[in-house]
Amino acid sequence: MAQEDVFKKVVSHCKEYGFVFPSSEIYDGLAAVYDYGQNGVELKNNIKQYWWQSMVLLHENIVGIDSAIFMHPTIWKASGHVDAFNDPLIDNRDSKKRYRADVLIEDQMAKYDEKIDKEVQKARKRFGENFDEALFRETNPRVLEHKQKRDALHERFAKAMNDNDLAELRQIIIDEEIVCPISGTRNWTEVRQFNLMFKTEMGSTADAASTIYLRPETAQGIFVNYLNVQKTGHMKIPFGIAQIGKAFRNEIVARQFIFRMREFEQMEMQFFIKPGTELDWFAKWKEWRMAWHQNLGFGAENYRFHDHDKLAHYANAATDIEFNMPFGFKEVEGIHSRTNFDLGQHEKYSGKSIKYFDPELNESYTPYVIETSIGVDRMFLSVICHSYCEEKLEGGETRVVLRLPAALAPVKLAVMPLVKKNGLPEKAQEIINDLRFHFNCQYDEKDSIGKRYRRQDAIGTPYCVTVDFQSLEDDTVTLRWRDSMEQKRVKISELQGIIEDNVTITSLLKKLK
Ligand code: GAP
Repeated sequence: MAQEDVFKKVVSHCKEYGFVFPSSEIYDGLAAVYDYGQNGVELKNNIKQYWWQSMVLLHENIVGIDSAIFMHPTIWKASGHVDAFNDPLIDNRDSKKRYRADVLIEDQMAKYDEKIDKEVQKARKRFGENFDEALFRETNPRVLEHKQKRDALHERFAKAMNDNDLAELRQIIIDEEIVCPISGTRNWTEVRQFNLMFKTEMGSTADAASTIYLRPETAQGIFVNYLNVQKTGHMKIPFGIAQIGKAFRNEIVARQFIFRMREFEQMEMQFFIKPGTELDWFAKWKEWRMAWHQNLGFGAENYRFHDHDKLAHYANAATDIEFNMPFGFKEVEGIHSRTNFDLGQHEKYSGKSIKYFDPELNESYTPYVIETSIGVDRMFLSVICHSYCEEKLEGGETRVVLRLPAALAPVKLAVMPLVKKNGLPEKAQEIINDLRFHFNCQYDEKDSIGKRYRRQDAIGTPYCVTVDFQSLEDDTVTLRWRDSMEQKRVKISELQGIIEDNVTITSLLKKLK
């Protein structure tokens, strides 16, 4: 199936099975805003738990906070967001559509990569088993030509972004003959900067009103609480502060479902360290975070690092962890070495000292920071895209199954009475009443057993149990595994032991190296 089709199917599956709904749908929706349904919220909470516990439970020197979304407006001046949190925008005069200039150019670079991949695939078919891909990439004239064009574009683009040269960005779009996907024309306006923060007003009267911003990242809530936590928690450097919370960005090019939203959720951790040690810590956090992702078992080949050419105004090293989505490798997490920029700025703007007294060195300094920042919604998207699977079964039937890691699945066990009478529903309910304290169970009595299995496969339930007349006699049930569809007769008293160890967040955490 083409990857585009997979993505469309995932989006409609999310809606059909209560994972994600367009927000305000009965009023025709609100662009780039989504609501999570009954299964979506469970999956999302499990992702958050996996992250939170891997940070706060597994690291003695990382603690969590939950700071307010509304913050003093000067914070955003100090952090640089008022002046520099911009996207370069360009309009097509014919379609009247607005685009991010950098995204148009990045898409163009991706086209060169696609051309190279096509050449490689063609050659692989031609040469079969003897194909030497590395040699082909190094020597094939067409591949080399595409690569040379791509590299030249990349260099020019990186320079324009670093120099903040908007005229040059426009010129690249013209020179590369990039057309508007809607009108097909090259009738482009100038490139302008557009600030991404949402503004609102605080205070009941217009006179007293003061402009405040909806936070575009949760990180600043951590920075301005750094001293509170360090002092009250008696924290010694190196230590980290973790937070999960909503963030808001007025994204102009909002697309690809929950990949780019206007209201989304971040899981951020700021790790405070001694100046001069940042590149070592940066390397360690890169490794740990990649291990966290790969621990889900989606295959190492589906992840890659993408080091930044244009560093954010606060960073001296930065990389993204990208995941192989149906629409290409895309950023899921950012890891930044943020220097002492933020704490230094807050010292300057607040006039308060945020220095750390290092008892080992007997000196004070403003700590440096390594940040790991991952979007909950993007993580959700990567998990659901990778897990979505259509399988042909014997007899020609197709089943849709979400092969979610069991620890992330919304429901862990579905309990189904074979028929809705003769004491079977009561027996099923008895099993649930016992197991619901250990993991999320669902009672399901509607339709045939086959249909019920399909419904549970579609939401990724790893285990189903069928209660039949034999269960009333000998306290056994049929246990069915989602992935293999294997069925086995087991004692009811054994269910907890078989299931629990495979479905808890702890089971995932234990596998982390
Ligand atoms: N504090 C650093 C920071 O916010 P970022 O790279 O802008 O860095 C971090 O954002 C992560 O937040 C991204 O890797 C992505 O997963 C998520 N994210 C950013 N913008 C988003 C959006 N509009 N919709 C959904 N997720 C977004």
